Amino acid sequence: MLQNPSFYSYSPTRKRILLVFITFLFIYLISNTHINKHELETVSLNKSAGINDDNTNETALNLTLHDERVNLKYCGEKTCNFMFPYFIPEQETRANLHLRSLTYLARSLNRIMVLPNVGNSRMNCCAPFSFEFYYDLEEMKKMFPNVKFMTQQTFKEWTKELLIKPDTLHTWFIEDGRNDSYSIRDHDHIAVEPGVVYEKKALHRLCVDQFDLEISDYLEFHTGIGYLKDFEYKMSNFFTENLKDRKSPVILIRNRSRRQMFPLIEEPIPFAPHIMKEALELRNKLQPYYCIHWRMEQGIPEEMPKCASRLINTINHLKETEGINNVYLATDYPISGGKSASETFYVVGKYHRKAMQMLNSTLNLNTWVSLNALKEFKNDKKYASEFSSSGIHGILDKLTCIQADYFLSGPKNCCRIRSTYTRLISEARQALIDNGDKRIRNAITRWGGSYS
Ligand SMILES: *[C@@H]1O[C@H](CO)[C@@H](O)[C@H](O)[C@H]1NC(C)=O
Ligand SMILES: *[C@@H]1O[C@H](CO)[C@@H](O)[C@H](O)[C@H]1NC(C)=O
Ligand SMILES: *[C@@H]1O[C@H](CO)[C@@H](O)[C@H](O)[C@H]1NC(C)=O
Ligand SMILES: *[C@@H]1O[C@H](CO)[C@@H](O)[C@H](O)[C@H]1NC(C)=O
Ligand SMILES: *[C@@H]1O[C@H](CO)[C@@H](O)[C@H](O)[C@H]1NC(C)=O
Ligand SMILES: *[C@@H]1O[C@H](CO)[C@@H](O)[C@H](O)[C@H]1NC(C)=O
Repeated sequence: MLQNPSFYSYSPTRKRILLVFITFLFIYLISNTHINKHELETVSLNKSAGINDDNTNETALNLTLHDERVNLKYCGEKTCNFMFPYFIPEQETRANLHLRSLTYLARSLNRIMVLPNVGNSRMNCCAPFSFEFYYDLEEMKKMFPNVKFMTQQTFKEWTKELLIKPDTLHTWFIEDGRNDSYSIRDHDHIAVEPGVVYEKKALHRLCVDQFDLEISDYLEFHTGIGYLKDFEYKMSNFFTENLKDRKSPVILIRNRSRRQMFPLIEEPIPFAPHIMKEALELRNKLQPYYCIHWRMEQGIPEEMPKCASRLINTINHLKETEGINNVYLATDYPISGGKSASETFYVVGKYHRKAMQMLNSTLNLNTWVSLNALKEFKNDKKYASEFSSSGIHGILDKLTCIQADYFLSGPKNCCRIRSTYTRLISEARQALIDNGDKRIRNAITRWGGSYS
C-alpha cells in the first residue's frame, strides 16, 4: 500500500525531467533535420548547375549538356536512338523491298531509321547520292506514320556535331548454309553471337568511317539453316528481343543474308517526284505504246539475233491486232554507251550488238536516251557515274513499262526470266487492270510465242 503513494508523490519531478529531455531531443532533431535538408538542397543545386559534382568532372558534364542540345536539335529529345542499315544488298527493286521490311525492326525497337544513300541502282552508305535522289521521303513518311526517318547526310552531321562520339553496336546479318567463306560459323538455328571486330581497313572499305562513331560491340545474327515456319516473324521477334534493351544510341546493320528476314511489305517505297514527272511525260509523248523489256543478261548470246527476229515478228503481228505503233525499249544493253545496265552482265558481245542493230533498223525504237529524258541530270557532270551503268534511268524504265498500253518481255534463252524487276512490272500492271484501268491491255506477254 505504501509503495503506491510514494510512486505518485515522486511523479511530478520525473515528469518534469522527462519533459525537459523530450524538449531537448525535439530541438536537436529539428535542427539536425534542418541541416540535412540544407545539405541536400546544396548538393542538388550544385548538380543542376553543373558545378562541383563529386562523381562527374566539370568538362564531361559540359560535353553532355552540349550533346543533349545537339540531340534535341536532331531528334527532338535529349537522347537519340538510331538504327542504320548501311548496307542493303541487290539492285533497286529488291533493295527497295529489303529496306521497307526493315521498318518492322525500326518500329519494334522504337529507333529512328537512317536511310542510306543511293546510286547505280544500289543502296548503301558508299553510294554518292542522297536517298531522295530515288525516293519520295515525304510519301514514305506517310506510308509508315509510326516510324521516324532520317537521311544518311543528316545522321552524319549529327555524329560530327556531337562532342562525345556515340557508342555504337555493329550487327551483321548472316545467312547460314550458303557454303561461302562464313560457313565455318554456320548455325543450325536462329542465333546471335559476338561478331568479328572490323579493322580500320574494313570500316573504310564499307565507308563506315565517314561517320564519327565509337563502335564498341559487334554482334552477328544468324538465320539458321533450312526451312522454318513463319521465319520472318520469328526472326523479327528474335532481333527485337536481343536489341530492345541495348543502350547504344546507334545500331549499325550490315546485311549479308539473301533470305527475307522480316515480314514482306507489298507496296514499294514511292519514287522521287522528279522521276515520276519524267515517266508521266514519256507516257504522254508515246501513248499508245508497247514497252519491250529486254534484259539480255543471262540470255544465251548466240540466240540473241534469233530472239530479235522473233520480237520483230511479234511486234508486226501486234501492230495488226492491237493497232499500236510506238515502241519503248527498256534494256540493260548499253544504249547510252558505257557499260551494261547490270553489274553482273559483263560481256556485251557481237551477238548482242547484232540483235540491237536488227531491232534498230526495223523498229522506230524509243528509249530514255532517244527521248532525252532526265536531261538535267544527264547534262550535270556530278551525275556522270549514275549513267555509266544502271541507275535512275532503270527506275524510269520501270515506271514507263508499268504505264505502257502493252507490255512485252523476253522468252526463255533470250533474257533473264526470273527477274524481280520484270515481275514487279507485271504485278503493278495487273493491279492497274484490276482497278479498272482500261488503257492497260495486258499484264505481261512473252514475245516469240505463236507469232514467230
Ligand atoms: C556547392 O556550391 C557552393 C558554391 O556555389 C560551394 O560553396 C559548396 O561547397 C558546394 N557544395 C558541394 C557539396 O559541393
Ligand atoms: C562549357 O561549354 C560552353 C559552351 O557550351 C563553353 O563556352 C565553355 O568553355 C565550356 N566550359 C568548359 C569548362 O568546358
Ligand atoms: C573529364 O572528362 C573529360 C571528358 O570525358 C575527360 O577527357 C577528362 O580526362 C576528365 N578529367 C578528369 C580529371 O577526370
Ligand atoms: C561447298 O563448297 C565447296 C567448294 O566451294 C564444294 O566443294 C562443296 O561441294 C560445297 N558443299 C555443298 C554442300 O554445297
Ligand atoms: C537482307 O538481304 C536479303 C536479300 O539480299 C533480303 O532477303 C533480306 O530481307 C535482307 N534483310 C534485311 C534485314 O534487310
Ligand atoms: C539506233 O540507231 C540510231 C541511229 O543510228 C542511234 O542514234 C541510236 O542510238 C540507235 N538506238 C539503239 C537503241 O541502239
